[in-house]
Amino acid sequence: MGGRLEGKVAIVTGTSRGVGVGISRSLLEAGATVVGCSRRELPALPAAAGIDDEGLRSAQWVCNQEDLQQVDAFVERVVQTWGSLDILVNNAGGTVPVPLAESVPPLAAKIQGAPRAEDDFERTALYHAHAIQNNLTSPLWFALRAARQMLRQSGRSSIINISSGAGHAAGSPTLVSYGAAKSGMNHMTRSLAEEWGPKIRVNCLALGPTMTANFERLVLGRQEQGEDYFENVPIGRAGTPEEVGRTAVFLCSGEVDVINGTTIEMDGGMLPGVLYETGLAPIREMLEAAGEPTRRVSDAGADRGISK
Ligand SMILES: NC(=O)c1ccc[n+]([C@@H]2O[C@H](COP(=O)([O-])OP(=O)(O)OC[C@H]3O[C@@H](n4cnc5c(N)ncnc54)[C@H](OP(=O)(O)O)[C@@H]3O)[C@@H](O)[C@H]2O)c1
Repeated sequence: MGGRLEGKVAIVTGTSRGVGVGISRSLLEAGATVVGCSRRELPALPAAAGIDDEGLRSAQWVCNQEDLQQVDAFVERVVQTWGSLDILVNNAGGTVPVPLAESVPPLAAKIQGAPRAEDDFERTALYHAHAIQNNLTSPLWFALRAARQMLRQSGRSSIINISSGAGHAAGSPTLVSYGAAKSGMNHMTRSLAEEWGPKIRVNCLALGPTMTANFERLVLGRQEQGEDYFENVPIGRAGTPEEVGRTAVFLCSGEVDVINGTTIEMDGGMLPGVLYETGLAPIREMLEAAGEPTRRVSDAGADRGISK
């Protein structure tokens, strides 16, 4: 067959659903061996269906990236099983938007997966800490552990971090800690590329809205806007996991080695901030139904008695 990634061994984190499925499928189609992970146990890599049904060059293993020991053991097991590690895609992550950064409702903390807390301040603090752990610290742990292996191999390797438009320097109200974590991820990408070149290229893909089952159900499914949701996105639609996957294959192939240390925005050309209000709408609806306090991003100043 002779794909562009023939013979390469890849780890993709967060492959039980969503963008991680698109990435792992593209890497598999390009000939790589792909080991995916998630907190949930699955019998096989979902993306391997129809490509590698026998699991000869794919696997899905449990690894909670919030646990340092699990990250260490996971990378070790991949190297023991497949002999090397050439690609890491740090995809696992995400959060849910909140209308009030200073007071995170129990429902939002629960959907995000933050540790439970009865006390309002503790819950709010843990929600933000969880966003930073899962979107910045854990991807750094994975990169550090992967680099230990990659730096001692003879060939060149590639790390790709999956970031977000929420990391834009314009700020990200409703996604304060997540935006800060993704912004940190963009910065970390540059630093690690400088430290690890020429052995490892490190790049970042900052996604705008990307059509996953969760996105469709939680964001689009609850809104009446339908296609209007994307009217402020120049290409008029969301990105797809397959597009992210194809870009990852290109970066990992090393065909253009000079792309290194950079963050590529995959947001259809949209302006920062145009979707924060619409992105918050479904979670606000859920919170209002649960009797939780909410506010519109644009009303934040008025709430504090400041007229515009
Ligand atoms: N979809 C978008 O519109 C969009 C936009 C901008 C950026 N992004 C970024 O793209 C990436 C993927 O997002 P997505 O939309 O595909 O999210 P998703 O549908 O929620 O999928 C997240 C994946 O990560 C896994 N995961 C989450 N926490 C984990 C942990 N602690 N350890 C191991 N696995 C974990 C989940 O599996 P388990 O729950 O089974 O562990 C799942 O497989 C994220 O980094 C997100 O920030 C997405």
